[in-house]
Amino acid sequence: MRISDIFNSYETLLDSNILVQGWVTTSRPQKDVTFVKLNDGSHPEGIQVIVNGSDKFVVGTSLQINGKLVKSPAEGQLFELLSDSLVVLGHCDNSYPLSKTKMSLDHLRNFAHLRARTATFGSVFRIKSAISHATHNFFEEKGYFHLDPNIITVNECEGGAGVFQVTEKDISIPSKLALEMSETKDVNGKVTKVKTDNYDWSQDHFEKPVYLTVSSQLQLEAIACAMGSVYTTNKSFRSEHSSTNKHLSEFTHLEIESCFLTLDELMQVGEDYIKFVAKYVLDKSVNDIKNLDKFVSKGLKDRIETIITTPFHRVKYTEAISIAQSKGKTIKFGEDLSSEIENCLTEHFCGPVFVSHWPIAIKSFYMKQDEDETLCHNFDLLMPYKIGELIGGSMREDNYDKLLMMMKRKGVSEEPMKFYTDLRLYGSVPHGGFGLGFDRMTMLFTGMENIKDTVPFPIAFRNCAY
Ligand code: 4AD
Ligand code: MG
Repeated sequence: MRISDIFNSYETLLDSNILVQGWVTTSRPQKDVTFVKLNDGSHPEGIQVIVNGSDKFVVGTSLQINGKLVKSPAEGQLFELLSDSLVVLGHCDNSYPLSKTKMSLDHLRNFAHLRARTATFGSVFRIKSAISHATHNFFEEKGYFHLDPNIITVNECEGGAGVFQVTEKDISIPSKLALEMSETKDVNGKVTKVKTDNYDWSQDHFEKPVYLTVSSQLQLEAIACAMGSVYTTNKSFRSEHSSTNKHLSEFTHLEIESCFLTLDELMQVGEDYIKFVAKYVLDKSVNDIKNLDKFVSKGLKDRIETIITTPFHRVKYTEAISIAQSKGKTIKFGEDLSSEIENCLTEHFCGPVFVSHWPIAIKSFYMKQDEDETLCHNFDLLMPYKIGELIGGSMREDNYDKLLMMMKRKGVSEEPMKFYTDLRLYGSVPHGGFGLGFDRMTMLFTGMENIKDTVPFPIAFRNCAY
């Protein structure tokens, strides 16, 4: 029986015989009996088992125990299991890395394959799973279809920077090596070595260069322009050469796309969705929130309650810049918002804030342009608690000529984009959508300050251990 099921209905189970399986988290031998804490990962607290004899069970050992569930005479737990029969399923030796009681989150990152056995990571991952259930409930209720477009793609959606290229070539074979070094001299005679791509892509799997997707948006637009409202929970991949607490090379990207709606309505979907998730986890993950609130993420429950009740402010980019300047920050119109400015704005508004209508010069080619082609109909949602940008979204340029003009201006190749520009030729409609960093949202609802602690196996710059 799962330990969470015992917690849910222990009163009806008292005095009956049950079977539990799990891993030892503590073991305290006394004179005649041993107190064993066993957990199977379904609940933040394990079950206390009383085993006859004074054997010490090494932390990490897996056991199967049959016994009688009784009311606990001691404080600290409501019930305990009196073992009748015990089977050691898997022995564990003293090299088990989680045998020490207190280990920092940083240190535990070295044991991603085992850290889900700790109370903290068990709670983080169960909350993440609840957020996922909430997501599907919310969008299904709103009439969105869940479809995941291709991950291997010819388009570079957000521009060429930071894409991973896909190839089947074996780079350990020098004759097939794509990159050769050649020397060039500059005007001062200084020699530099440059890489020349001599690779014959026509011999590769797709007969041309292809990439791991940075965003499923463009394909989602095509499906939305046939089915109305769609979403994906695909992974996206970005090669950013920096290690921050908010960036991964591989992240879960919740992206939605919908036709016949306005920018204001799109922002409202974002706000309603986040509040729906907040209510869902408060209801379904109450024990995990309580567990994290105790030590690791103090104030987590208050935070989640605040998200439900607080208004999400809306401000235009131009005004946001003035606010930041009035607080003494050095930022000019036309510049992107640094983390410092994002935090300044969420502090100013005492909560989440949508910053809309950015200059198109610093945003993507597909965003719907204003009349004068300087600003665009887009928004970033900034979250407090040092999370910063959680959502990036926009209405999409649905005018064929304006889209092509912007693609030219931003140097986006037309050939791989034909499927995309076609959508503006064959019954173009107003539509828009957004992308939300699912792992960043998990930071919000677990209090983890490093995105690597919200993902079972984090893959990040210079870090791919699994
Ligand atoms: O703002 P971004 O780059 O927007 C897009 O990719 C659009 N095509 C989305 C769309 O409109 N369908 O990314 C969206 C969100 C960001 O706000 C951030 O939360 C998250 O994705 N994100 C990352 N999360 C973790 N690691 C990274 N390297 C991330 N890059 C973006
Ligand atoms: Mg963005």
